[in-house]
Amino acid sequence: MQISFSPPRQVKSGTIVLLVAEGRKLTPEGAALDRKSGKALSRAMDASRFTGKAEETLAVLAPASLGVARVLLAGIGKGGAKDRAPWQNCGGAIFAALNGAGEKTAAVLVDVAADALDVAAHLAYGARLRSYRFDKYRTQQKPEQKPSLASLAFQVGDAAAAKAAFTPLDRIVDGVFLTRDLVSEPPNILYPESLAARAKALTKLGVSVEILDEKKMAQLGMGALLGVGQGSARPPRLLVMQWKGGGAKEPPVAFVGKGITFDTGGISIKPADHMWDMKYDMGGAGTVIGLMMALAGRKAKVNVVGIGALAENMPGGKAQRPGDIVTSMSGQTIEVLNTDAEGRLVLADALWYCQDRFKPKLMVNLATLTGAIVIALGSEHAGLFSNDDKLAQQLTAAGLATGEKLWRMPMGEAYNKMMDSDAADVKNISGGRGASSITAATFLERFVNKVPWAHLDIAGVAWTDKDKPTVPKGATAFGVRLLNRFVRDNFERAPKKA
Ligand code: BES
Ligand code: MN
Ligand code: ZN
Repeated sequence: MQISFSPPRQVKSGTIVLLVAEGRKLTPEGAALDRKSGKALSRAMDASRFTGKAEETLAVLAPASLGVARVLLAGIGKGGAKDRAPWQNCGGAIFAALNGAGEKTAAVLVDVAADALDVAAHLAYGARLRSYRFDKYRTQQKPEQKPSLASLAFQVGDAAAAKAAFTPLDRIVDGVFLTRDLVSEPPNILYPESLAARAKALTKLGVSVEILDEKKMAQLGMGALLGVGQGSARPPRLLVMQWKGGGAKEPPVAFVGKGITFDTGGISIKPADHMWDMKYDMGGAGTVIGLMMALAGRKAKVNVVGIGALAENMPGGKAQRPGDIVTSMSGQTIEVLNTDAEGRLVLADALWYCQDRFKPKLMVNLATLTGAIVIALGSEHAGLFSNDDKLAQQLTAAGLATGEKLWRMPMGEAYNKMMDSDAADVKNISGGRGASSITAATFLERFVNKVPWAHLDIAGVAWTDKDKPTVPKGATAFGVRLLNRFVRDNFERAPKKA
């Protein structure tokens, strides 16, 4: 889909999209078109439930006097708020309505009173986010199954400024789409080596990408990560990405992602039903890769490290057994009582490696870590665990601003003690049924030194079964927008004033 910005001009084909504020309030151009059509638009609204709430749309066959096929009325709610999310959602709803109707081309008249260029940019952002599709393996699509909308134009007074405001948002979408692509790929195509190879492509944006193989990881003593990968014919990898947009001496902000390209559970094997979902168990690493693309794409003035702990968790003759004891890079020994609690094992070594090598300002890890967080929070919030109140607050705020919401969960010594092992320094499951998202987090915390750290358990939010305004069903890329915002608001050097 081609997105463009232009000054107001007459629309001669396709659909005219008019923005309508709550209470059926048309914009000046909308009101003019309504008069030109003998009040056909007002009558259509009166005859419907459409009131102009954000995300509502109403398609009207255009009266002949307007010279186009259709008019789409799109609700923008109360308007005036500083919050961009409703505009983005409106953009997503506009895309869905146009594409659902089989429209090929449309123009949105953005003649709203305040912030028109910002409104236009965020409408376009939402529309493009919603337009994502993963259809590379569908070879027999009928024309009516293919996306129709080829061009979406935004008419706004200061078109050049709107385009300039959209450009960094467009780069964020590039990152979101990369993450969605990676998470959507089937597990026979996407495995540790091929996932790392896909990340390698970020080199052309200026990201430095290193890929550590088993030999290198063995030298580093990463027994926990290697243990998870040892049952698979596809060897594990550690992906290390660096974006250096900040000062030469400035310590980086670090992101670490769980990248289990398929989680069978290993010898502690999962039931067959819905095991296919476990292709998205690399969602944490997928998000870190997309985030690096977004930050590099918009040349963020900050130093960032992104790490992916990549392995496939398979049963087999070489697989690790429940009861095995492995030695992690930190030196701590881990008793592996359940091979399905593998995410924390690969993260233990990745977190340790990250702080040891890069001395980051802080670390945030993302992981589809526990089924229990899905029970606790569903798909409305990701779980947030942190050893630092300020970091937790910054992440929570970025979540609210982007609509990728976090909910902080408790930690503490009582939970931590539940992970003590009789045979080793720590065990990988508590053995009890309670609080297993929390005990997973306390396990991770044992591999974090004094650095501020947060763990986002994204098991419930990495994939969606239903369309949302800016997220079509499937891989969500939850975390890319959130963490881009977190970096932007807290760590980027302000651009020099002229
Ligand atoms: N990848 C799963 C967690 C998961 C579940 C992600 C559902 C997405 C959707 C993780 O590796 C796992 O298997 N966790 C176990 C831990 C248990 C053995 C302590 C779980 O949550 O059941
Ligand atoms: Mn598992
Ligand atoms: Zn897993």
